Amino acid sequence: MAILKIARMGHPVLLQKAEKVPDPTAPEIQQLVADMIETMEDAHGRGLAANQVHVAKRVVVFHPPADLPDSEDEVDAEDPPVLALINPHLEVLDDERETGWEGCLSVPEMRGVVPRFSRVRYSGTTPDGKPFEREVSGYHARVVQHEFDHLDGILYPMRMEDLGLLVFESEFHHYLASPNDNDLDEGDDDETND
Ligand code: NI
Repeated sequence: MAILKIARMGHPVLLQKAEKVPDPTAPEIQQLVADMIETMEDAHGRGLAANQVHVAKRVVVFHPPADLPDSEDEVDAEDPPVLALINPHLEVLDDERETGWEGCLSVPEMRGVVPRFSRVRYSGTTPDGKPFEREVSGYHARVVQHEFDHLDGILYPMRMEDLGLLVFESEFHHYLASPNDNDLDEGDDDETND
């Protein structure tokens, strides 16, 4: 296993559309998944896509959040084990969207408010070659949309509707639980760092 270098916004690999993996069980994919998990844990990330480690293949790893009402941001003990998906697919279940704060290991020290679909179904192949499918909502759906976007060369600031809400982490306290933050969304204060 190895800790890989994480590409930062500006590196062209992050804008590349990743290629489908012909054989999800191939040894080099197993190695890539293991290295991505080690890299994500080292960086305390919620998730990581292969583009972020300079490999334009359709592979993501992430901590699926525990489906608790207050589950957000920090990876915690209640969360299920890391999920690795190869050639993942996303299906939006309805038009409802919500906004929430996101961060990204490729956009260090920043956070931004991003609109995402509230309910999605996602699927893919696990590294042992088995199909995986799940329907999720809220923060879990947000994490999945953020990670899968990476594989299409999309970073979260490219999804933002108000760049006034792209802020440095050191200034983020201005937006925490203030009585004036009702204009951001309907009480959704999710954060993620992928
Ligand atoms: Ni990210």
